[in-house]
Amino acid sequence: MSAFAPFSKLTLQSTKDHNFKQLLSSHFINHVQVSTVPYAIPFLSVNVPFRVNSRKLKPITALAASTIESPKISFRGKNPKDIKVLVVGSTGYIGKFVVKELINKGFNVIAIAREKSGIKGKNSKDDTLEQLNGANVCFSDVTNLESLEKSVENLGVPIDVVVSCLASRNGGVKDSWLIDYEATKNSLVAGKKFGASHFVLLSAICVQKPLLEFQRAKLKFEAELMKEAEMDDGFTYSIVRPTAFFKSLGGQVELVKDGKPYVMFGDGKLCACKPISEQDLASFIADCVLKEDKINQVLPIGGPGKALTPLEQAEILFKLVGKEPKFLKVPIEIMDFAIGLLDFLVKIFPSLEDAAEFGKIGRYYAAESMLVWDPETGEYNADATPSYGKDTLEDFFQKVLKEGMAGQELGEQTIF
Ligand SMILES: NC(=O)c1ccc[n+]([C@@H]2O[C@H](COP(=O)([O-])OP(=O)(O)OC[C@H]3O[C@@H](n4cnc5c(N)ncnc54)[C@H](OP(=O)(O)O)[C@@H]3O)[C@@H](O)[C@H]2O)c1
Repeated sequence: MSAFAPFSKLTLQSTKDHNFKQLLSSHFINHVQVSTVPYAIPFLSVNVPFRVNSRKLKPITALAASTIESPKISFRGKNPKDIKVLVVGSTGYIGKFVVKELINKGFNVIAIAREKSGIKGKNSKDDTLEQLNGANVCFSDVTNLESLEKSVENLGVPIDVVVSCLASRNGGVKDSWLIDYEATKNSLVAGKKFGASHFVLLSAICVQKPLLEFQRAKLKFEAELMKEAEMDDGFTYSIVRPTAFFKSLGGQVELVKDGKPYVMFGDGKLCACKPISEQDLASFIADCVLKEDKINQVLPIGGPGKALTPLEQAEILFKLVGKEPKFLKVPIEIMDFAIGLLDFLVKIFPSLEDAAEFGKIGRYYAAESMLVWDPETGEYNADATPSYGKDTLEDFFQKVLKEGMAGQELGEQTIF
């Protein structure tokens, strides 16, 4: 008899038999967007069509008694198809690509998703199954530990690795703590409980200089993750801290194409970044599952090429559209004024807390570089920021000019 716990919160679905229909949640905002902008569950087995291809997960019943007694064998010695990677945040901008990349690398991917996923919950379960085709999709709630643990338990298989691409979709104060800290921690606790011995975290390079709530929430989780590895020598982590994503830099492409000026703060040289594509970052993250040199490392990472200031990004864009560069340079002090005002108002109207936070997020990305911070010199260091991948910002701009920004949307809130 296969013993199934009632699938209360959990719906585990294979994509196999499925008929497919077919300025700011990112925490990184474009300048112009600111202005507009032990494991084994002995009694469970799985009888769902769990894997898209023939690689079925081994029912846990067979593992139960012996695994608990026997020493833990590192997943790193296994064939990728036998390595179960649980991905949380699987439906995000980066998460989707990470799922694909892990599947391409041959891992057995279990993607945790919400029943309504995507920006503003626009994707139905069917959309999500289609989007995550090739993964075993498990609908659950990462914000509720009990529910998440039940879902993972109901999978009936041990987990080897957890990859988290979770992030608050709106960047608000409470939501940042709920997702970037609590939900991420829930995925660590649930993953470890069911066997995970490695955790790959998608973090952000900007946590080096934490002035924002989501950065503090991420840092708190990073610290606890590192502590976990210190306390448990069978457990490891990789913390990936990328610089800017393409989506955060594409907001002005269509405006410039339409003859509008490129908007920047100060002289356009207040900050710089090494933008990285979703695909390149996903590939780097997937490498963190097995590569020994990524074990217990904090890994800042940028895309290929030199660091680019907003001015340089604009120059690339004007060259591509074949128009004379036209800039609108906005004094950064305007943002300081708006933030000061919001900080004052929030004391009277606490409900403005998130609006004040969004202002600070905008200010932060208008002036802080997304590069490795050198505490000795007190400056950002482009040379110390590693580059990875092959997709350039110029390629991306070219694509947006042809195809638009579909798939590159930012988050759920508008600022100001
Ligand atoms: N944008 C940048 O330039 C940049 C640069 C460096 C680092 N980063 C960091 O990269 C990370 C990921 O960014 P991203 O753009 O891929 O994020 P994203 O597209 O906003 O995706 C967020 C993911 O978290 C999930 N999530 C959010 N709230 C949830 C909730 N209440 N319950 C369950 N799941 C929830 C989302 O699920 P749903 O689909 O169900 O909403 C989605 O899968 C962030 O930590 C960000 O700080 C960003």
